[in-house]
Amino acid sequence: MHILGIETSCDETSAAIIEAHKGDNQVKLLSNIVSSSIPFHAKTGGIIPEIAAREQLKYILPVIDQTLKNVHISEIAAIAVTVGPGLIGSLLVGVETAKTLAWMWNKPIIPVNHLYGHIYANFISPLPAVARDNIIIFPALALIVSGGHTDLVFMKNCSTLQWVSGTRDDAAGEAFDKIGRLLGLPYPAGALIEKLAKTGNQKRFHFPRPLFYKDTLDFSFSGLKTAVLREVEELYKREGKPLSHQTICDLSCATQDAIIAVLVKKTLIAAKKYQVKSILLGGGVAANQTLVEQVKLSALRSALYAKIFFPQKFLCTDNAAMIAATAFFQNKEVPWKDITANPELYFD
Ligand code: KG4
Ligand code: ZN
Repeated sequence: MHILGIETSCDETSAAIIEAHKGDNQVKLLSNIVSSSIPFHAKTGGIIPEIAAREQLKYILPVIDQTLKNVHISEIAAIAVTVGPGLIGSLLVGVETAKTLAWMWNKPIIPVNHLYGHIYANFISPLPAVARDNIIIFPALALIVSGGHTDLVFMKNCSTLQWVSGTRDDAAGEAFDKIGRLLGLPYPAGALIEKLAKTGNQKRFHFPRPLFYKDTLDFSFSGLKTAVLREVEELYKREGKPLSHQTICDLSCATQDAIIAVLVKKTLIAAKKYQVKSILLGGGVAANQTLVEQVKLSALRSALYAKIFFPQKFLCTDNAAMIAATAFFQNKEVPWKDITANPELYFD
């Protein structure tokens, strides 16, 4: 069967087609188009919701059209669309478009939780197609690390999900972005902080690792942002000039170290607690190579015999392929009249 996925929860406008057959444990990606309004938001330090939605209105039909032109299939079985969480104006663009297409083509709609999408990005077979030597074995633990969320989720099998813990304040990606702003970096800052951290001096700064020693699987990142702010103010007072490039690299390195240390520690504790056989990473921050390496290393060191999975980079950040993949595994068709956007959607 072929599923058309539509994703417009934040600043991306994306459409994708996946192919899968009943009983498959992964799906094949046939086409995935992503158009982003990020350049409009880079200087303002965050998404401007109205601009994001206006751009999505412009691009949604061309993006779907191009996705369909990329594949040679006779028909699609269903339309999968992100219904939340996200920005209401942005979500509505995708949801209303999906409803219109479902009505016109007489196809069912499968409403998808965007957060599930970041998990199911791990179930999309790699491109270019290569035989995957390791298949996800259950039970599994998923770490979702995106701009808006940081959650640990237990997976009993490929369709049963149970929320374990989440952040008490800022998300990991949000921490990267807010600290990036303090350092004068464009939004979103995560990928750039990773790049700058490579030439940073790891020993120059040390930031607190929130909740690191606390007996909880929760996360908290807002204190880290405050610690970096204090350090930046202190440096400015002492040096009386803008931060040098090297100082920005050193601060990036310390920021990344602090965020990753907490993510890895809580993930490993949860993985042991739930005796999982696989750990899945997902969301924009999962594109961070140091995070992936640290999770692998810590799993080895703690003799946790779990396989580590992470999506290809283009599937870590928001895309419609992961929404179509989720629809395949969570297949819950709903009549188009009953579909509504829900900006506050979380885990059941
Ligand atoms: O999943 P995503 O595309 O959007 C949300 O659903 O929020 O994630 C975007 C987030 C941003 O906060 C961005 O700074 C972060 O992912 N990000 C990274 C990297 N690439 C993107 N954070 C750390 N390292 C990266 N390489
Ligand atoms: Zn996302």
